Amino acid sequence: MKSLNQIVLDQTDILKAVEYLRQGELVAFSTETVYGLGADASNEAAINKLYVTKGRPDKHPVIVHLADIEQINNWCRDIPDYALAIANRFWPGPLTLIAKKKAHVSMNITGGQDTVGIRIPAHPIAQALLKTFGGGIAAPSANKYGRVSSTCAEHVKEEFGDEVKMILDGGKCLIGIESTIVDVTGTSPRILRPGFISEGDLLDVIGNGLLKNISEDCNSTARIRVPGSDKSHYAPRTPVLLLDKSSFNSFFEQNTSGQYTYAVLALNKCVYNNCNIKEYIEIQNDPRLYANILYANLRQLDKAGADYIVIEEPQNEPEWAAINDRLRRAAAK
Ligand code: TXA
Ligand code: MG
Repeated sequence: MKSLNQIVLDQTDILKAVEYLRQGELVAFSTETVYGLGADASNEAAINKLYVTKGRPDKHPVIVHLADIEQINNWCRDIPDYALAIANRFWPGPLTLIAKKKAHVSMNITGGQDTVGIRIPAHPIAQALLKTFGGGIAAPSANKYGRVSSTCAEHVKEEFGDEVKMILDGGKCLIGIESTIVDVTGTSPRILRPGFISEGDLLDVIGNGLLKNISEDCNSTARIRVPGSDKSHYAPRTPVLLLDKSSFNSFFEQNTSGQYTYAVLALNKCVYNNCNIKEYIEIQNDPRLYANILYANLRQLDKAGADYIVIEEPQNEPEWAAINDRLRRAAAK
């Protein structure tokens, strides 16, 4: 497995990947958030293959990845000034904007909606691929529908085996959770999926008062469907119990019968003497580090084959918002 400082851009691999994309094949590639499963966004047959391979329902839209900001006008229309300010500040980077789509953009990638998701990733492999390809690459996270995202090439192999023509291995993803998604179709931006770029980061660019939080809109008629906000998502196969600090601490005192086995993700040393623990991971109380290895940890816990994965819930603070969002969905039925 490569680490980021070992990455050598191999132009032969990039050219081979571009050739596959032009032939309508799927290519997985690293980004700074998670690995993407890419297809030519202008090729209907390739998009169909992407949905079938991922096992994704056809009403769930995918993000179009581009090399640079100049290209967004080929895909979107009526982009408000505040959105351009956000784009100029955070692209290339871990941000996706949902904007009104141009007429030629296929309904197959927008889930039948009049909007398209656009992202300009910063990772050198993604950048090289996109620049050489020239067009848009539709890429959901490289995992089977509803499951845990991939943050290294090994994960992609575990998910898809030979179903994917090629994996451009850029080492472990630096951020480790998916991009922040912001709806910019209205007069003010709305966060649809929290991520590394926080609400505070957006406010620094657009000023107070303009940002709408998704929760505000939850009970009103939402302008946009966001299937990735399905209650259950990012889910290991093993059922997940997400417990706040005090429930987590008492859980192991109360469940000593030996009836069930557990795989544990703890923030603090926990005492589980009389319990049947098949895997135990303790992680530092640091949101960046936690995000960076979250999916690798969920995969490791899943592999333990325990009856339950038990996770100590991080504190309810803004810097943990994106992680808590993923953990809650992983634990949802
Ligand atoms: O970091 C990321 O965003 C990664 C990397 C590969 O770029 N991609 C990713 O894609 O997480 P995916 O498909 O797993 O999640 C994208 C989310 C989905 O929840 C989808 O519903 C939403 O973006 N989305 C995409 N286009 C949309 C649109 N036009 N309207 C509303 N939601 C959209
Ligand atoms: Mg995904």
